[in-house]
Formats: sequence, C-alpha cells, structure tokens
Amino acid sequence: MSRPLESLRSRRWFAANDMRGFAHRQRLQQMGVRREDLLTRPVVAVIDTWSELSPCHAHLRERAESVKKGVLMAGGLPLELPAPGLGEVIVKPTTMLYRNLLALEVEELLRSHPVDGAVILAGCDKTTPGTLMGAISMNLPVLFFAAGPMLSDRLVRDGRTMLVGAGTHTRMFWDDHQAGRIGADEWVALEATMTRSPGTCNTMGTASTMTSLVEALGLALPGSTAIPAMDAAHVRMATTCGERIVGMIGEDLTPSKLLTRGAFLNAGAVLMALGGSTNAVIHLTAMAGRAGVTLTLDDFDALGRRVPVLANIFPTGDRLMEDFHYAGGLPALMSRLAGAGLLSLEERGVDGRTLGERLHDAVVRDPEVIRPLDRPLSTEGLVVLRGNLAPDGAVMKASAAEPRFRRHRGRALVYDSPLAMRTAMADPDLDCDEDTVLVLRHAGPIGAPGMPEWGGLPLPQKLLQRGVRDMVRISDARMSGTHYGACVLHVAPEAAIGGPLALVRSGDEIELDVAARRLHLCVGDDELARRRAEWQPPAPRYERGYTKLYQAHVTQAPEGCDFDFLQGRAPTPEPDIF
Ligand code: FES
Repeated sequence: MSRPLESLRSRRWFAANDMRGFAHRQRLQQMGVRREDLLTRPVVAVIDTWSELSPCHAHLRERAESVKKGVLMAGGLPLELPAPGLGEVIVKPTTMLYRNLLALEVEELLRSHPVDGAVILAGCDKTTPGTLMGAISMNLPVLFFAAGPMLSDRLVRDGRTMLVGAGTHTRMFWDDHQAGRIGADEWVALEATMTRSPGTCNTMGTASTMTSLVEALGLALPGSTAIPAMDAAHVRMATTCGERIVGMIGEDLTPSKLLTRGAFLNAGAVLMALGGSTNAVIHLTAMAGRAGVTLTLDDFDALGRRVPVLANIFPTGDRLMEDFHYAGGLPALMSRLAGAGLLSLEERGVDGRTLGERLHDAVVRDPEVIRPLDRPLSTEGLVVLRGNLAPDGAVMKASAAEPRFRRHRGRALVYDSPLAMRTAMADPDLDCDEDTVLVLRHAGPIGAPGMPEWGGLPLPQKLLQRGVRDMVRISDARMSGTHYGACVLHVAPEAAIGGPLALVRSGDEIELDVAARRLHLCVGDDELARRRAEWQPPAPRYERGYTKLYQAHVTQAPEGCDFDFLQGRAPTPEPDIF
C-alpha cells in the first residue's frame, strides 16, 4: 500500500478502540473473517448484479469468486455486495425506470458500508450506467468488470447460413413472421436460437455500447469489455480486476481523477465509431453530470460529424461482438481514432496509464470488422435533430435507417399509447403508405413514465406484407440499441410536459432532413398557438411509491434523465457517520 493504512475509510469501522469498533469487528468475525485481516487489509466491495432473473449476468457469481481471488492475492479483503440485476428483457415496465434507483442503491451501498473501493460486475443495458453513476457520485476507487457478450449463433435459413445476434434478429424475424414469411412452427423454434449462453447481447446494442464506453472512459481495464462471457480469458480478467483494485486503493485513484471532459469526449467519439446505441447519449450525459462535466447534444452532434462508423457490427454492420474481440476489441478501434487525431491521449485510466500508453500495443487484426477511416461502414452514425418539433433536440441513428429517409416529408399518423398503436398497425384498412410518418407520444421520461424502448415503432402489417421494412418513426421514447430503422427518438421536451410533439395531429405534414439536422412540423405558428391554448397536461399516471418520486424528479433526455437531486458528486470529506 502506497497510502497509509490509517487513511482507509474502512478504518473508521474497524480500527476504533471503542464499543462500536468492537461490535464491527465482532460481527465480521461472526462470518469467519479474521480480526487481523480487518485491521491490515483494504476492504473491496465486489458489487455483483447477478440474479436468476437477469440472464445476461447468470455467470457473475462465479466471476465474483475470481475477482475475490485477485483481491486476496493482492492483499485486500473482498466482500460481496449484491445489487439489482435489471434484466433488460424481463423487468417491466422498463429497466430505465430503475436505472436511477440502481444508481441510488450503489451510492448508498458504498456510503453505508466499510469499504475502500469497489469492483462492479454488470453489463446488461442499464446496469452499467446505473452502477457507475452511483459509484462516480461516491467517488471511491472503482473498477468496472463487464459481464461480456454471449456466444454468437448461426442459423440456416433458405439454404443460407447466417450469423444471428440477440435483439436485432428477433425484430427482423418478427417482421418476417408478421409478413407471413416465417410460419408458426419456425417462429417457436427460433426462441431457442440467438441466446446461446450467459452474457450480454452480442450485437452493438446498449449493453456492448455502454461497456465499450466505460472502457473508453478509462473505468475498465484495456481490452476487457469485449471478452466473450464464456471465454477462459474472461475468468482470468476477473482475477486481474480484483488484483488491480487493491493497487487503485493504494494510489487513491478515484473517478474524479479520471473523468475529465476529455475522457467523456473520447467516449463520445468511440460511440460514433461503434455506430453505438442511441441510449448511450442519455447514459453518458447522466454519468458526466455525476462527474461534474457538462456534455451536451451539440457535443454529440459535433463528434458525429467528425467520426465515421468503423465497427462492422449488427445492427449497423453484419458481425457480432465475438468478431470484434478477435479483431482486437476496443483498443484496436481506439487506435484507429487516435491515429487520426480524434482522441485526447492524455486521459488516465484505472491501470494508471494514459490513453496514449494504453493504445501503444493495440493492433487491428481484422480490417473487415474494424474498418480503416478511409473505408468506413458509414460516414454518419448518430445525428442530433432540432426544429419546431424538437426545440431541445432529438436523436437518430442515421446509419441504421434506409438512405431514402435522409430527406423525407410525409403525413403524420399519431398515437398516444403503444397499445392503441399496436392495434391500429394490425388493421388491414389503415390509412397509410410507406411515406407516412408514424408518431408515438407520451412515451418520455415523465409521460410513460421511464422512457421505455418503444421508439422502434411497429410497422403497419399491410405494408410489411408488401415488403416495406422501414418508415420514418418519431417519438419521445428511446429505442433498443439492437434495433434499426429511421427512428427519431428522445424528442424533447416530451409531450407530457407540453413539448410540441403534444400538438401534432394525424394528417399534419412532417419534414425530416438529416443533412440539415432538421425536424419540422409543417403547421403555421398561429395554428400551433391555438392548439397550445387548448392543450391540457395529462394527469400523472402514478400517485405513490418510487414511480411518483421518479415522475417528480427525473430530468429530460438532453440532461440524461437523472434525478435532479442526484446530479454531481457526494460531498468530500463525507459527513461523520458515527
Ligand atoms: Fe441483457 Fe441485452 S438483454 S444485454
């Protein structure tokens, strides 16, 4: 330990020569922990998001044991603290509703327990930003260990072997099923495909995007986040993380020493190069808010204009995370960006090195998976749109939309609930064509509440049967990172608080212009003022419990949907808790 033992936070519990110190030591000895270990070793919280309803984290209890082994080998004392797993597909109404609750829980877990630092084991969508938001606020040394992507799968269809990935292909096959191209038996058989093992979705969905960004921020060890969950290297990396956190505690290497604006802009550049999930814009903004760094939609748009999509991974490309790992993973991708002067190389990471030092040995092993800058997958990934329909901004993954929608004008078809929309989409006589602009509102942070991933709006069945696979869709919701299509998301302010989306009527014309970054409702100002005067805010949907608290305090998408009372760091030094 390069830092005096007396300066450790855990000493407040275990070193005191009084009745409380006696009780703390006594209770830990009750669990078999030796007294001398409490007095001589830094205490590491192993925050584990394992649960039997979090399939992506099914292996994390085993990995927690490997992390503990590493902590012990380095002279620390590991103690496991469970946190909610937030299984993305399982938790209803949406895991986003509980991201801030997880953040609150992790912050309070760290505050209330005798720990000097933490290794966080997570990865399924919201668990990455949720756990880290809390840890950033608490500002103890913390190291993130990603659950890792699940194994790839292959499927033979129409005599062709195809690579299939979780999430993305579910949506594709569902559209084919709706169009009658996949029969009932084949549809049932597909349930057993795509998810072959524990681990996070193997496409560049929200999970892989967020774990990659965490590595880009410097909060995970280089090359660790793309290791497949079932790879022996994943087990070894867990042990290495356990070893390293003890060193970090010795160096007092806290998030506040790593998370500069430069680090966040690096992560934003990586988001663009990955063709990553639109959800990351919200999560990264919220994490920056905890670190006291301002990150705006304009920052993301500026990065999107400079950084092309290089990662050839579903849903933008046609490979999976396992291929990305073999191709060199995130260090290889970042070395491409560094070579073009697109990264700040002075930012430090959890291993104590600068980004420039971390990328020194990085090699791209497959240029088809990690493309060179002069042969990108797309020159445009995420774009930020503004206009009279989204004065505070909206986002769109332009690279995942049919190119014809880059400039589009069409008649709106508006719905106030996903159920009403789903019912209408099944109507064979629905008044629409492929140029129609589908609109869903009251799906934002307050309106839904929790801003669910409803933004990949369903297409009309009659058009699916005619082979249509994309339309312009606009909402104040989010969209799963594994999905694709011309979906304009996160429209702000949201309809439930009187954003202009609340004023759109079916039959109005809407213009989308990606190059001009414009989203325009073609209705005169006088008419909009008349509609605004008639507008009534909807009654809050929940009157009690956590959801009531959520509705009262969640911020809008451009602020990261954090709670207004959780932004920023906890006070240092911590108030005396004894
Ligand atoms: Fe867990 Fe996709 S459902 S990462």
